[in-house]
Amino acid sequence: MKNKLLLIWIFLCQISFGQTPKSYTEPYRPQFHFTPPAKWMNDPNGLVYLNGKYHLFYQYYPEDIVWGPMHWGHAESTDLLHWKHLPVALYPDKLGWIFSGSAVIDKNNTAGFGKNAMIAIYTYHNDEIWKAGKKNTESQAIAYSTDEGKTWTKYKDNPVLNNSGEQDFRDPKVFWHEETSKWIMTLAVGDKIKLFSSPNLKEWQEESTFKPKDDDSNLGVWECPDLFPIKIKSNGETYWVMIVNHGDKAPNGGSGTRYFIGDFDGKKFTEIQKALWLDYGTDYYATVTFSNVPNDKKIVLGWMSNWQYATKVPTEVWRSAMTLPRELNLIKQKEGYRLTQNMIPQFDALTKSVFEQEKVVTPFEKTEIDLSQAEVNFTMEGGTDVIISLSNINGELFTIAIAGDIVVTDRSNSGKSDFHETFTAKPQVMPLGEDKINEVQLILDKSSIEILLNGGKYSMTNLFFPTEQFSILKIISKDDKPLQNLKIKSVARTWD
Ligand code: FRU
Repeated sequence: MKNKLLLIWIFLCQISFGQTPKSYTEPYRPQFHFTPPAKWMNDPNGLVYLNGKYHLFYQYYPEDIVWGPMHWGHAESTDLLHWKHLPVALYPDKLGWIFSGSAVIDKNNTAGFGKNAMIAIYTYHNDEIWKAGKKNTESQAIAYSTDEGKTWTKYKDNPVLNNSGEQDFRDPKVFWHEETSKWIMTLAVGDKIKLFSSPNLKEWQEESTFKPKDDDSNLGVWECPDLFPIKIKSNGETYWVMIVNHGDKAPNGGSGTRYFIGDFDGKKFTEIQKALWLDYGTDYYATVTFSNVPNDKKIVLGWMSNWQYATKVPTEVWRSAMTLPRELNLIKQKEGYRLTQNMIPQFDALTKSVFEQEKVVTPFEKTEIDLSQAEVNFTMEGGTDVIISLSNINGELFTIAIAGDIVVTDRSNSGKSDFHETFTAKPQVMPLGEDKINEVQLILDKSSIEILLNGGKYSMTNLFFPTEQFSILKIISKDDKPLQNLKIKSVARTWD
């Protein structure tokens, strides 16, 4: 009997972890984006590279498809596109649920857990204290792994940073600051970011508070900060970027991600220009970068959903996906500094051309084409007004209008939407300022679109739930202006 139970248990473990997830064919299941095998997922956590592997931990509730007591799920990849599921890394315990945080590689063994130990710095959220209406709900803690993230030990003297009396006190992102020989932590505290320093990840000292000047925007709770230096490739200048995620009132509703460009002196971050939104779609949140990536590349992942309706989207086995990993770069333009986001180069290896046309006369229409896993690219003379529609045989459609100084996406008739009133309440609008769009890239994966314009200067990420896959592409342009270099590619699934 005991043996039988053991065999059943081993069988179940194999299905869930480390093996091909046989179920990856459910309606709406992304085929080349990361999704958990089953159940609820939100933020990416502990993004870190070690010995040829990228580790993705994530907010995970393994018992239901809605948010609940948080764990850290775990997966790894050698190319950021093909992921292998691994057992849950961190379980809740008597100190609380395991909320978002980061992971570092302790190259100098500052914490004494071993040279090159992988150390997770996360938030404990104590739900009992929260329910009792008290403020000291959240504190920061650490756990370490000396076998590349396979097994984890929580530090015996947790928490390492106690609550300073604020209700929201979470999402530590930590990096090693060479100049001061200290770890720096950014932490979301209410509607500001606090910076702490530590020689060993165990004792933390408060250094400063970042609250932008003239920032009267009321953007809900501040979450998941990320501070890092980035070099402008064209002139070698380095600036610091502070990413901040906001729980509410993003430009197109609900949760969204902003960033500040500035300087960091080892203690304090000072912005040099007003915040910009990283993405104008509705479904790009809790965005953070990987630590320890070779050549200092900045690779960012976001949670492809929105707190407005994340727990209601019409998937049954699992809930939500990560965005594709994107490479961040900083550019300088006359209006100021700006991040660009582009697909990582290895993404191209997944694509295969299915249609190409150098000069495209509009109106253009291509029917019976599989747009459920596809990339569509084209270029045009800057300032050409176009409407692109992706539709299916049931007449459901998703449209993108690039017109004048705005881009507008509309999913009001894109399929299932009655799960939440905000999903189709209004179209999404992105301002372009003085810029003219001349390069369009669309990446479609079952129930999502990532729109990148002008070499990743502008991005919009949106979900949709059509009842049949999109199979018709139409493009019209004002005054029938021609388009160039239209390429439609299929994208291979990464779960074999
Ligand atoms: C952001 C967030 C974090 C928190 C986690 C809880 O989406 O609210 O602030 O740590 O999710 O799951």
